[in-house]
Parts: sequence; structure tokens; C-alpha cells
Amino acid sequence: MVQKIDSDNLPKHIAIIMDGNRRWARSRGLSDTEGHKAGAKNLQKIVNYCRDIGIKHITVYALSTENWHKRSIEEVKGIFNLLIQVVKEKRVEYKNSGIRFFVLGNFQAFPFKVKNAIKKMLDIVLDNERIKFNVALNYGGRDEIVNAIQNIIKDGVPANKINEELVSTYMYTSGQPDPDLIIRPGGEFRLSNFLLWQMSYAELYFTDVLWPDFNPKELEKAIYWYQQRERRVGK
Ligand code: FPP
Repeated sequence: MVQKIDSDNLPKHIAIIMDGNRRWARSRGLSDTEGHKAGAKNLQKIVNYCRDIGIKHITVYALSTENWHKRSIEEVKGIFNLLIQVVKEKRVEYKNSGIRFFVLGNFQAFPFKVKNAIKKMLDIVLDNERIKFNVALNYGGRDEIVNAIQNIIKDGVPANKINEELVSTYMYTSGQPDPDLIIRPGGEFRLSNFLLWQMSYAELYFTDVLWPDFNPKELEKAIYWYQQRERRVGK
């Protein structure tokens, strides 16, 4: 049974490593692309659920820099096509339901069709405030930190002006609170270069459930678990 979550004590920012799409597909005799398709479908359910219960920020790890370079061309193409399809299909729905869309990572390096579809989505939802939905694409946590250092130097910031607050403004998540709950479905216990700077005080929730099966009931379980933690944040 899923325990009732306390709507006054929700995490402000939930981040998810969407893992297990291929295992989910292979165990059903389906292609890897079918697994990612099921993962993308589940993602929509989770984003809508978060929006509806009042979560203000959600971040998902969709494609790491390593995935992009190391997965087969076929698989990456499949993920790109899915991405184009989702951003095209959801543009108006996101606009009308208050979902703001952000990309964390360097998507400028993507093929034109992908970049273009993403840009259109980013532009149409600019005024939305109900929930901020960040998709990490061509993202790596260390890469994000290196990028921040380069930009700090380019901006000529003097060493004595560099503090944690300033560095945060150079991260892709600038202006958003750090995640307070990080979830990894798929049975692995690692963070895979995800939000290294931002995760300092996050609670970490791991489950064997594969991402396409990680439905809103599973998310409720994770939030309930989070609400039982004593968040000392160094105190
Ligand atoms: C990890 O599972 C998942 C990915 C590398 C891709 C995730 C992408 C999506 C869910 C589609 C994104 C779509 C949008 C709209 C953002 P895995 O392939 O590593 O699975 P495995 O651990 O079973 O091998």
C-alpha cells in the first residue's frame, strides 16, 4: 500500500536518472528503441503528476555525454527521433498547462532538426511558471563544472568574488533550487556524473523498478520515503 504523502512537505526539486529502458524492452522481446519509447511515455506521466501535485522543479537525465558518444548510432538516432516527436507533440499542451522547458547540457552540438525542435519548445513556454521541467541532454556533471569555470574566467570575475552562490549562477540550473530528492530506478547504485554540483544535500532514493514501470505510484513511494528522512543539512 502506498502511504499518503504530505502535500505541505513536498520536495521542491526532484531529479531522476531514467535507467532500465533497454532491460525493460529486452525482457519483452522488444527493440531498445521500444524501451526508450516506453520510457518517454512514462516520463510524460511523471511530469504531469509532478505538475498536478505541486512539485516546482523536475530534472531528468535523458542523454549523458557518454551515452551520446558510446551508444550505437541506431540507438542515438532513435532517442533523437523520440525527442523530436515528444517536443513537437507536447508543445501546445506544455504551453497551456504551465510547463516551462529547459535543457541542461550542450544541445547546440546536436543535428539541426533536433536543435530546431528543441528551440521551438523552449521559446513557446518561456512565460510558464507552474513547473520547471529540465531535460539533461548531452549532459555531464563534470563537464558542467568545467563549463562554469571557463565562463567565470571569460567574464573576468576576480578570485575573491568567486563563492558558492556565484558558481551556482554559472550552472545550467541557474536560478533554480538544488534537487532535494534524487531518484534512480533500474537497480544501480551510482550517480553517473549527474548534477554533481547541485546534489550536495539531496536525499538519494534507489529502486530496482525499471524506468518504464516507475509510475506515479512508485514516485509517491519515493516522496513518502523522502518525507520520513530527517533533513539535517549539516545541522
Ligand atoms: C537509460 O536506460 C535511458 C537512456 C539512456 C535514455 C533515456 C531517454 C528517454 C527516456 C527518452 C527521452 C525522451 C524525452 C522526451 C526527454 P538504459 O538504456 O541505460 O537502460 P538499461 O540500463 O536497461 O540498459
